[in-house]
Amino acid sequence: MSAILPPAERLWWKHPLDRVEGLWIAIAFAWCMVMFFMMVGWHIYGKQNLSTETYKTTPEMFSAKTQAMVDKYTVRTETDEKIPVVHPPEGSDVYLIGRLWSWWPILELEKDKTYKLHMTSMDYNHGFSLQPTNINIQVVPGYEHVMKITPNQSGQFSIVCNEFCGINHHTMVGRLYVK
Ligand code: CUA
Repeated sequence: MSAILPPAERLWWKHPLDRVEGLWIAIAFAWCMVMFFMMVGWHIYGKQNLSTETYKTTPEMFSAKTQAMVDKYTVRTETDEKIPVVHPPEGSDVYLIGRLWSWWPILELEKDKTYKLHMTSMDYNHGFSLQPTNINIQVVPGYEHVMKITPNQSGQFSIVCNEFCGINHHTMVGRLYVK
């Protein structure tokens, strides 16, 4: 039998299942189940990828909310571009914009305090990667991703874009402070 010549017996699904074939199906199915339950288990025990709520938004709506937070809670500016450093109060909604090719503004949060972080992209898909903690969140234009965060480590963190977004993708970095 070859691929060019069709098998004499066309109703292949009526053939008895070979023992080895059956074994492989059983192994593959068992492994599928392991991976399926790992998705749930990793969410609880992995403590890396936060589950987000997602809502529709527009760049205008999101910019307005972010600007309002920046106007209210900016404590200083950093770098030559005068990026505002925003220190919002505990429990408040904090906003972060991803766009070609920056994260804006710089957030300054407090350790062991809980915030509601909102994120969107103004243009293309970006990837929020918080280093060195390895938290990863997809940032999709048109959608507002919301997650509850409680920083448990203080220091200066880097936000790196881990979704290829064009010629300056490698320069799309930001900062986040935890005090
Ligand atoms: Cu944004 Cu890569």
